[in-house]
Amino acid sequence: MLYTLMNKHTPVAELNIDEDTGAILRVARVIHLEYLPVGIAIIKGLPNRKSLNDWWRGRSIPASRSGIREALDILNTAYTEQLLTKCYGLSLSDQYWINPKEHPFKWENINFFNNPFSDDVGNALFGQASPGSELDLLSPCNTSDGWLRKKWKIIDGKRYLLKSGSNPFHQEPLNEVLATSLHRRLNHTAYVPYSLVWENEIPYSVCENFITPETELVSAYSIYKSEKKLNHHSLYEHFLLCCEHLGIPGMKEFLNYLLAFDFLIANTDRHFGNFGAVRNVDTLTWLGAAPIFDSGTSLWHDQLARGIHPNGDVPSHPFKSAHAEQIALAGSLDWIDFSALRDIDEELRILLSASPYIDELRTDKLCNGLKGRVRQLEQLALEQKHQVTVSHSKETTEVHPESPDKIGRNHHQNCNTCP
Ligand SMILES: Nc1ncnc2c1ncn2[C@@H]1O[C@H](COP(=O)(O)OP(=O)(O)OP(=O)(O)O)[C@@H](O)[C@H]1O
Ligand SMILES: [Mg+2]
Repeated sequence: MLYTLMNKHTPVAELNIDEDTGAILRVARVIHLEYLPVGIAIIKGLPNRKSLNDWWRGRSIPASRSGIREALDILNTAYTEQLLTKCYGLSLSDQYWINPKEHPFKWENINFFNNPFSDDVGNALFGQASPGSELDLLSPCNTSDGWLRKKWKIIDGKRYLLKSGSNPFHQEPLNEVLATSLHRRLNHTAYVPYSLVWENEIPYSVCENFITPETELVSAYSIYKSEKKLNHHSLYEHFLLCCEHLGIPGMKEFLNYLLAFDFLIANTDRHFGNFGAVRNVDTLTWLGAAPIFDSGTSLWHDQLARGIHPNGDVPSHPFKSAHAEQIALAGSLDWIDFSALRDIDEELRILLSASPYIDELRTDKLCNGLKGRVRQLEQLALEQKHQVTVSHSKETTEVHPESPDKIGRNHHQNCNTCP
């Protein structure tokens, strides 16, 4: 069937879509190429069909989503791509949608930001069948990403994302709340605040939608794909170069904070889908980095107590595979007020004490682990400070014309005259 791919009010291209499989069969016509999703490959002035299909299928609920089999059974649907056309691809994280060519809609009447939507899909995703035989599949839950159980819900007219944790500790929602407190303590403002709700003894994190009808969330992955990476560029360099070429302001400073923050919470999953930037969909102007969201996969959430070590290292994403290495990209750590973090472990203890899934031994280990992360980062900040001081004092007494920008260890490695 023929659809117009829309970015809010702007027609982007005409697509022939097979509703049974959700596949884009043909790009029939291009209307406003500049309004295409970021990162779609353009070949000879036309959006590449495979690239468009990857993006379009990527809008559906991932097949790896916890509980998806039971949910699809309740919804009487074979696979998640089929749910995409049922909601015209509409989402609460951006403004892309597909408009049937034969009986077109107006965005005002159909978007999920201003129009109510049914809880049927959200309930199914939480393993609950809705009463009544006829299910309403028009829901933004059909286009939600990520592997944890989640649903969009309207509460007092606002859109909230409810997200569960994973077995056996259900720790992720508690981690989101701790992360929120950490942002406050660090005086950072660009974050999504999460709170906690309990339903049938299961904890869920709740956060409000940070996207408005005027904006879209563009993942770091889409940004990363907007240009071909050169072999001699690192992931970090390539990503920042893409941001620079697209005109996204403030990303380097944002990453400085994010990498230090993720070090503190021992985040193991800051992949390129877990941060990004926000763009105005009417003017295509970039507003800057998206506020920090999805920080729950941290604090040894899936590790047994014996695997939690306050002095050890933790795997990291997206630029390096270990935090000890990745933190070197964060630049100066002198902005961190460590006195504001002194009793953060006690706050974590209170948070964890409310959970029946976390026993005392685990609580002790986690609180100690968090204290260890703070200590490790403080140590790194001190070492940095010392290196800068040493390099400054050397600069005033000695002349090194060949290496004016090298400090600390690098300085000594490259210097023939230093001991
Ligand atoms: N507050 C929000 N406002 C708008 N969109 C959001 C918000 N929170 C999350 N999203 C969107 O929903 C997606 C899934 O959310 P989230 O990353 O929190 O889930 P997850 O299951 O923890 O993901 P992962 O698979 O990375 O662990 C995000 O990648 C983002 O696109
Ligand atoms: Mg995520």
